[in-house]
Amino acid sequence: MVAQKQFLTTAYGGYLKQETPGENVELTHVERGAPAGELLRRYWQPIALTSELGDVPLGFRMFGEDLVVFRTTKGEYGILDRHCSHRGTSLEFGLPTENGLRCCYHGWLFGVNGQVLETPGDPPGSALKDRLFHGAYPCREYKGLIFGYFGPPDSIPEFPIFDSYDYPGDKLVPYCVTYPCNWLQVQENVMDPAHAVFLHTRVTFSHFSDTWGELPVMDFVETPTGMIYVTTRRWKDKVWVRSNDIIMPNLAQVGHIWEDGQDAKPFGRVGITRWTTPIDNTACKVIGWRHFHPEVNPRGIGKEEDCGLEKVDFYGQGAGGSFEERQRLPGDYDAIVTQRPIALHALEHLTYCDKGVVMLRKLLRRDIRKVAAGEEPPRSALRSGGLIPTYCHDTVLAIPPIAGVDDLELQEEIGRRVTEIVTEGDHHVADDRHETVRRLLNEYENTVASQAAA
Ligand code: FES
Ligand SMILES: [Fe+2]
Repeated sequence: MVAQKQFLTTAYGGYLKQETPGENVELTHVERGAPAGELLRRYWQPIALTSELGDVPLGFRMFGEDLVVFRTTKGEYGILDRHCSHRGTSLEFGLPTENGLRCCYHGWLFGVNGQVLETPGDPPGSALKDRLFHGAYPCREYKGLIFGYFGPPDSIPEFPIFDSYDYPGDKLVPYCVTYPCNWLQVQENVMDPAHAVFLHTRVTFSHFSDTWGELPVMDFVETPTGMIYVTTRRWKDKVWVRSNDIIMPNLAQVGHIWEDGQDAKPFGRVGITRWTTPIDNTACKVIGWRHFHPEVNPRGIGKEEDCGLEKVDFYGQGAGGSFEERQRLPGDYDAIVTQRPIALHALEHLTYCDKGVVMLRKLLRRDIRKVAAGEEPPRSALRSGGLIPTYCHDTVLAIPPIAGVDDLELQEEIGRRVTEIVTEGDHHVADDRHETVRRLLNEYENTVASQAAA
């Protein structure tokens, strides 16, 4: 835990707080064996868009390490330490061969697993290559993203397939935005539903829809894979329940960005699947897919062509525009990056609306300490068909206010019951999970709506 600084209780008291407290090293730092980095390294992480990698290697940084990713001429992917084991030349200038990457300087050839395959300047019979490995990490491509695993080689996890990767009729469009700040403050934004009311609606203009400006009833619930927020709002005769999903440690799923709560919708699914992957302690990437599906984009606002390298199709996700323009109409990027290169937890004053952030830090601390104690990190359980259930959704129910019932209490109850249906029960490991959740939500909607009509 980080020691909290005392409240400042003096007017014009800026002078009194000149001492700067330290960072929350345990949760934020990711370089050179830092605890959070050690946790994150135990999971497959996306590193680049497949479209970024041509027929020459691509240099990148991850966990503070300089690396290259490349594709052999046979089509196999590899991640290698950037600097050649011989005398340090950057393998960004390496030439891919059929079975590896050849350093340009003296021709050493490295396999995708780091094996030194050739040291052509040495006399025949040189045994150096039989003893030496170059640093390498497992790598694979999936649906337009390149993933790496950066943890111990004796416990490479299966590549997890979440149900949101495989939703009928859904198109996944890869995108990536670099943030010049620590990974955790970027990830925390997903569990901060209050900022949607203010930053995204009331303080500047409606980034998404006016419905977002209604302060929701908020709850935060642990799931088998992490946690969700539950926001419940009334919009005329409808109640909109929305959950963003955090899949530990650094995957997040967000619902339909432009949802407006106008049309009834049980269990509308994912609009964004995105990891926050650390480049180093003070930079990270939001990288993943925007989902394009009629259910999550019924008004056709999203634009595939606006998603890709350093761009995504909704407001405020990057350093676009002049600084002054962004001062007048700030977005997520401005709010998050300017929390400092690494947000200082000891200087925060957390309140009611930060409950999600507090819970996320608690779950993270628990998992970081497990790994630090030498335990296996928690991993998601598969269900039949090899898919892992996820919990992000937008559900809009046609339930008008009920005479004589406090509407905030009604919203709270609806949020609670919808969340039980979405997260609990045997149907979540069954092949017909999606249909069952929809049916149960519709049954519940009918029951409560009939009370309202009575
Ligand atoms: S520096 Fe790479 S082969 Fe010599
Ligand atoms: Fe936001």
